[in-house]
Amino acid sequence: MNKQATELIASLSRADFGDDFRWGCSTSSFQIEGAVDAAGRVPSIWDTFCKKPGAIRDGSDASVACDHFHLWPQDLDLGQSIGLNAYRFSIAWPRIFSARGAAPNEEGLAFYSDLVDGMLARGIEPWITLYHWDLPQYLQEQGGWTNRDTVSAFVEYADVVTRRLGDRVKHWITHNEPWCTAMHGNLDGMHAPGLRDVPTALQVCHNVLVSHGLAVPVIRANVPGAQVGIALSLHPIKAASDAALDLAAVERHDAFRNRWFLDPLYGHGYPQAPLDYLGTNAPNVEAGDMQAIAAPTDFLGVNYYFPEVVRDDPDGGFLRTSVILPDGRERTDFGWEVAPGCLTELMARIARDYRPAAMYVTENGSCYDDHVGADGSIDDRGRRDYLVRHLAAVRTAQQQGVPVKGYFAWSLLDNFEWSEGYLRRFGLAYVDFDTQRRTLKLSGQWYRDFLLAGH
Ligand code: FCB
Repeated sequence: MNKQATELIASLSRADFGDDFRWGCSTSSFQIEGAVDAAGRVPSIWDTFCKKPGAIRDGSDASVACDHFHLWPQDLDLGQSIGLNAYRFSIAWPRIFSARGAAPNEEGLAFYSDLVDGMLARGIEPWITLYHWDLPQYLQEQGGWTNRDTVSAFVEYADVVTRRLGDRVKHWITHNEPWCTAMHGNLDGMHAPGLRDVPTALQVCHNVLVSHGLAVPVIRANVPGAQVGIALSLHPIKAASDAALDLAAVERHDAFRNRWFLDPLYGHGYPQAPLDYLGTNAPNVEAGDMQAIAAPTDFLGVNYYFPEVVRDDPDGGFLRTSVILPDGRERTDFGWEVAPGCLTELMARIARDYRPAAMYVTENGSCYDDHVGADGSIDDRGRRDYLVRHLAAVRTAQQQGVPVKGYFAWSLLDNFEWSEGYLRRFGLAYVDFDTQRRTLKLSGQWYRDFLLAGH
């Protein structure tokens, strides 16, 4: 057991974080819902991608996943039993619009309306992400996010969903991790739609940000008292050595990984240095786009998992950097470095450089290979220790004056982990994918005891 975690378990208390702190878990539609053909849902780019040989490491797909589409009442009961006061989930766009220009699908809207009512009945505040990567396939066929019409389609989708649910849902996240949408989807091809093209990736990135900015005022108009934000995947960037070339590599990498999003969202435009070395690969920016992207928001969602260590590398793509994995670092079973201090550092930096009114950790979690014991229990103390140490890092940030107002653990359930299929478990609850049985792991029990003790 991690010694630091043992000490923290004894000293950390829910009350330290403040009375209005949001204690949540996060999930996303494609990763948990299954029922891909039910109630008028049409295919998403991820359904298509899963069919591509070799795209998903275990050859699986998400046609059943956690069958949350049918089992949601018991999943909300589970969340309630943990003591969650907030729950972040996403809406599957292909459940709401079956074709460009079609009328909204009432069955799809009714599913989410019932889900929201189920949360409210259990004292759980709903937090909705509008886009967590499951773009309708019919939009990809007209160019996906490279086509400006997808931006319009997103704003119309945001309009319909917020009109329908905005009487009960106040917290709205436009996009989850635009970096992943753009770069995993269109640069390294690891995610749907599986393309590898620099200008495409950069145009997708830009259009996603524009769609965020244009949706913000629409959400505000439809939702009295709306709190609107975006969730970014952010990584503190560290140098492989003290050499000047590596330190310069950190600047380049950071400018693209983090500032490429934060700077324009907070009204500073794209950082100049990446624009210079992107040359003709830079995105096409239309008049008014940068103003749109800078629409004021109420909070920033920070998805934090691990820092990145980089070195200068002339062959390292347009950034001329390579990410390296130094030996001797603590890592999860996914190979991601465990560095809770970097979460404090990251949030303090954002508070200093961008001054968001509020920040929420909208995702943070760890992947360990769980083993079910003879008695059916799952002793995932690695995940529990990760959770405790990162909560303590949030508390340290608060003590430094950073306005962090909530924490959403990734994830409530083991689920379909994108191109890794079912090989990577992140849940506080174990899912037996043969029986769909959920079992709270030691980490989930700790979170429950922690939340209930301080209440
Ligand atoms: C994040 C994604 C989330 C999940 C975690 C492990 O990048 O937003 O859906 O896959 O990683």
